[in-house]
Parts: sequence; C-alpha cells; structure tokens
Amino acid sequence: MDIIDTNTYPLDQPDSASYSALVALCQTDLAKNGLFNLPEFLRPSALQDTLELVKPVIETQAFVHLRTHNIYFKKTIPGLAPDHPALKLRQTANHTICADQIEDSAITQLYDWPAFASFLADVMQKPGLYPMDDRIAGANVMTYYDGEALNWHFDRSEFTTTLLLQAPSNGGEFEYLRDLRTDDDPNYDGVAALLNGQLETTICPQAAGTLNVFRGVNTAHRVTPVEGDTPRINAVLTYFDAPGRKFTTEEHLGFYGRTTP
Ligand SMILES: [Fe+2]
Repeated sequence: MDIIDTNTYPLDQPDSASYSALVALCQTDLAKNGLFNLPEFLRPSALQDTLELVKPVIETQAFVHLRTHNIYFKKTIPGLAPDHPALKLRQTANHTICADQIEDSAITQLYDWPAFASFLADVMQKPGLYPMDDRIAGANVMTYYDGEALNWHFDRSEFTTTLLLQAPSNGGEFEYLRDLRTDDDPNYDGVAALLNGQLETTICPQAAGTLNVFRGVNTAHRVTPVEGDTPRINAVLTYFDAPGRKFTTEEHLGFYGRTTP
C-alpha cells in the first residue's frame, strides 16, 4: 500500500510494536477528545494524484446535495412538537461523488484495503469492521464551494472516517460539541441551546492529507460555510460492524439522487 505513509502509520504490520503503539495512541485520543487525527496519513504524491483524478469528476458528475433539515435528518421525532426549537431547520449544500465514479482512486483503494478496516476495528476494540455492500454510499467525496456547508447533525453510524483532500482558505471548519446527548437522554433543551448559538463548541483544525476518525452519533457537529475560491474536498468512508450493509432507496435518493451504481 504505497498511498499511505506506512513508515509513520504501520497498518501493514499489525504484529509490530509500533502498530500497537499507534493503536494505543489513537484509543487515548478517542477517549479524551471523541476523535483522533493522523496528519499526513495520505502521502503527498497520492494526495496530488487523487485531487487530479477527482476534481474533473466533481466538476462534471457530482450530485448537488441541497436540503433543509433538522439536526436529526428526520422529518419528525416522536414526542417532540414540530415547533420545538430542537427541530430548527438549517440548510446543507455540497457536491457529492461516490466510489463507483472513482474506482481507480486512492480513496477506493483505501476503503477496500482489509488492513485499514482491521486497524479501525483494533482502535475501536471491535472484532471486525466491514465496508458497505453499497458502491454508492460506502465511500464518498464531498465538495463544499463558497457559501456551502454541512449543517448541524448527529451521525447515523457510531463513528465516521474522513480523509481531508483539500482545505479551504477560509471557513469550512469542522466544529463540534461533544456528548450533547446520550443513548438514554436526548437533551432536547441542550440541542435547542446549541442551535441558538448559546453553547460553547470546539473547532478541530485539519490539514489536507489528515485522516480523522470521529464518534458522531451523540456528538453534534457541522462544517461551517466555506468562504472563498478554494473548495473544501473531503472523503468520507463508512464501515459497519457486520458485512452487507446497504442504504435504503429513500436514503440513496436523499443523499445521492440515484439508486444504482
Ligand atoms: Fe457527520
């Protein structure tokens, strides 16, 4: 695997002491911050090649994902009045391409590399993690142009793996508020306070080439609006505890505007 820096990040040597040390470091960061970053995970040459490959696809074939949504990405929440401030609507806009459109890229190579899924499983202390059986939803590249943003939300999956390919010159920052809710307590008043700008949040600075793993199921997060001519380009890789996961038809249409590769 020559696209990632295996000297610093020896994912190809899972029996080595340096691999164990890396896993332990990631686990410590994850427990402390709810995320970990591996800077320069993608080699500079692979980053360059990837951008050259994906940019024309983004410009000509991307699905424009434009929608108004609440923090739950759901139309209604049982037990919550439709006018509750926790359901405040915001807009998300980006340009999305999928694994099936960039099959020869470093993104799909990494997504399909069993050692990468094993590494994530080791960090998460799971018996295994598996790529989706879904060539549309499994691996995406999301691009945010001037004024575009991914608004406040909680994730459907327990954690999300991203690889930043291009950082914008201004805006487009990853912002979060950790553990805003728990599995037992939806904390609707806290959600409402966040949406009203009344809570203190954290910004996670990121450079292109950085791998980020983030526990987003109970941590509210967003990408702030990009400002300027350099779009934010970010790859998102989704793994699950079991093989065979697919999006539903409704999810495919909502996020990608199509249902077949
Ligand atoms: Fe998310």
